[in-house]
Amino acid sequence: MEVRKIKVVKVVEEVELKEIKEIDKEISVGSWSDQNWSSINLNANYQLFVLEDPSLDHNHNQVKSKIVGFALFLESKEERLVHLLKIAIRGELQTKGLGTKLLKSTIDYYMNEDERDGKFDKIYLEVETENKEAILLYKKFNFKTLHKCNHFYGTNIHAYKMLLTR
Ligand SMILES: CC(C)(COP(=O)(O)OP(=O)(O)OC[C@H]1O[C@@H](n2cnc3c(N)ncnc32)[C@H](O)[C@@H]1OP(=O)(O)O)[C@@H](O)C(=O)NCCC(=O)NCCS
Repeated sequence: MEVRKIKVVKVVEEVELKEIKEIDKEISVGSWSDQNWSSINLNANYQLFVLEDPSLDHNHNQVKSKIVGFALFLESKEERLVHLLKIAIRGELQTKGLGTKLLKSTIDYYMNEDERDGKFDKIYLEVETENKEAILLYKKFNFKTLHKCNHFYGTNIHAYKMLLTR
């Protein structure tokens, strides 16, 4: 499968949001409600990146979306910090390198001076301590564990806070 590009979506179309919500449900903890999702169109500090597969052309069914994964960030320009709130790849397409491709593109976007004038220095995230696949993905890109935060997602569901610096 070929994945062509990442695009930044400011105002998410309904069909795209539907697909993103479906993919979000596969996140082990922290899936969002419809209300949470509608709030991202109201706040310009949220940035949504989608990974698209151009070979999935569903136009004949009036379905325009080709989304296979997404990453959602909250930007804090004052702190030169972005918070990775969510990253997910469709279940059947996981472990094929797509999470790596998506995360690399977003890191390049935020941390590469050519692309963003070096506006951001740090990417911060929380991840459930049992989510081994995601932790391996973040470590691959040199995210460092800051500390463990007990009961972060609920009783006995702990998180690591991780940080990537330039
Ligand atoms: C986390 C997630 C985005 C990774 O996406 P992916 O496309 O499966 O990841 P990749 O195939 O690029 O693999 C990235 C790295 O993760 C690790 N990894 C991924 N799946 C793995 C598995 N099943 N077993 C062991 N390691 C795994 C490997 O280190 C791999 O790097 P490598 O292949 O160079 O060794 C994906 O598993 C996912 O969507 N999970 C559900 C949502 C979620 O939990 N998101 C994170 C919290 S918000």
